[in-house]
Amino acid sequence: MSDPHARDPLKRAAAERAVEFVENRMVLGLGTGSTAAFVVEALARRVAQGLSVVAIPTSEHTAEMARGLGIPLTNFGEHRRIDLAIDGADEVERGTLNLIKGHGGALLREKIVAAASERFIVVVDDEKLVDRLGERFPIPVEIVRFGWQATAAALEKLGTKPELRQTDGRTFITDGGDFILDCPFSSIAQPRQLEQVINMTVGVVENGLFLGRSTAVIVASDNGVDVMTPGAGEKA
Ligand code: 5RP
Repeated sequence: MSDPHARDPLKRAAAERAVEFVENRMVLGLGTGSTAAFVVEALARRVAQGLSVVAIPTSEHTAEMARGLGIPLTNFGEHRRIDLAIDGADEVERGTLNLIKGHGGALLREKIVAAASERFIVVVDDEKLVDRLGERFPIPVEIVRFGWQATAAALEKLGTKPELRQTDGRTFITDGGDFILDCPFSSIAQPRQLEQVINMTVGVVENGLFLGRSTAVIVASDNGVDVMTPGAGEKA
């Protein structure tokens, strides 16, 4: 089995570059996952040095980590808008910078936070780059538990084979109390249409396609760290 931490130096490098974009007094969105965890760590170091920010976490896991590291948390009751959210992704489509997210199960809160953010910076290592969404990961679809089999059957009509997500032999339950169906769509030519039809399916709460939301993607590879912006290809 490959070392699950082999990409950690790259994830850390992308995360540290992203945290350089954080400014004093910002309201931040904090993502979920192993790369986002490096963001939380790097941010905590800056907070310990005197940076003043508040953050809305995208999962209970991130909330606990941020709290433990001394990052002040807030919520949408106090702040309707977020200045900058930083999060990981499972796939990043070259050029469009469209994403698949949700392998970590936090896609609903992640999408709410991304939608409320002025800027949305995505941090990945170069293994996450794809020519077309769907090449490597299924689309995670969060669904209500009631009637999940009927929802899965309806999604199957879209040309996928939904799998109810399991972790350690148990059905995975999101922070919102829902199930996730992982829906493979080998290469997605029309993601906007697909997003619409998935979300129109009764029982679906949200899906893991993040389209037109990234304002920058920070990609770490063995050659260094690049900041990519939508439509602009890669720049140093
Ligand atoms: C969680 C996510 C994560 O950002 C995504 O799964 C990437 O995680 P990692 O950085 O661990 O590869 O969308 O819902």
